[in-house]
Amino acid sequence: MTPDLSGRIAWVTGGARGQGRSHARALAAVGAHVYVSDIAHQVDTVNYPLATPAELETTVAEIVDAGGQATAVQLDVRDSTAVTELVDHIVDQHGRLDILVANAGICAFVPLEDMTDEQWADMVGTNLTGTFHCVRAAVTAMKRNRFGRVVGVSSGAGRGGMKDLSHYSATKWGIIGFVKSVALEVGSYGITANVVCPTSVDTPMVMNETTLRRFRPDLDDPSPDDAKPVFAGLGPLGIPWLEPEDVTRAVMYFVDDPGLTTGTVLEVNLGTSANRI
Ligand SMILES: NC(=O)c1ccc[n+]([C@@H]2O[C@H](COP(=O)([O-])OP(=O)(O)OC[C@H]3O[C@@H](n4cnc5c(N)ncnc54)[C@H](O)[C@@H]3O)[C@@H](O)[C@H]2O)c1
Repeated sequence: MTPDLSGRIAWVTGGARGQGRSHARALAAVGAHVYVSDIAHQVDTVNYPLATPAELETTVAEIVDAGGQATAVQLDVRDSTAVTELVDHIVDQHGRLDILVANAGICAFVPLEDMTDEQWADMVGTNLTGTFHCVRAAVTAMKRNRFGRVVGVSSGAGRGGMKDLSHYSATKWGIIGFVKSVALEVGSYGITANVVCPTSVDTPMVMNETTLRRFRPDLDDPSPDDAKPVFAGLGPLGIPWLEPEDVTRAVMYFVDDPGLTTGTVLEVNLGTSANRI
């Protein structure tokens, strides 16, 4: 059955491209008015390009062209005041906020001993504290209407360790503990809070020069095709990576759930965690 989100107000962070764009499009396609936010600006410690204002506008234009409703917002999830102001604005305009997909994130491979304080702080500030800022503000608004669907975005790195990603992994484990705890606090208000854990996804976070070179150190300028066999070898299915829409299906499961599932983690894993608890 297709979900019907007519009249619902949704907010997707990090929605200028990649998985966030896919989530925003799916939510709007079934009737939600989607606020699409993104930093749309570079962060110095991130060694691949973050989204641009043009990409943010494209997400919204695609939704509107398809007959949906969306609003673009340039917003850094590290900025607690800006986050609160956005939620106040949404509630002012619509009287409600029903759905949050806290998707914004960064990732950059760096060995522990080379990791600077700034790299650690930006990683934690974006992935974990950013999620905290958005969920705190959203839940406050959702409680008023006694309805809410919160989806946090972790990773395979939130289910195990990952070499040279200790800061990233720490944030992704943190998101799980945080969202599970929130689920306990807000359940009696009709609000669910769950987490999706994707394995590798075909987005600019992975398909960039720095990351691809890590998987094919033997090549100067590896293409995604060059890296495909290495990724495919990570799991038993032999499939190299997910498409953003594969993760969207998991997000939509939680959004459409009638309020019976909360505090859970759904791995979209291509089998990569089959040998872990
Ligand atoms: N791509 C993967 O393999 C993979 C795997 C598991 C989990 N994830 C997670 O999925 C989420 C989405 O990533 P993606 O794969 O679509 O990558 P992506 O880089 O395409 O998208 C992330 C978006 O977040 C935005 N962003 C970064 N810092 C921000 C900030 N401070 N404030 C607001 N927006 C900010 C970026 O501009 C970008 O548009 C992230 O949380 C990521 O950690 C990705």
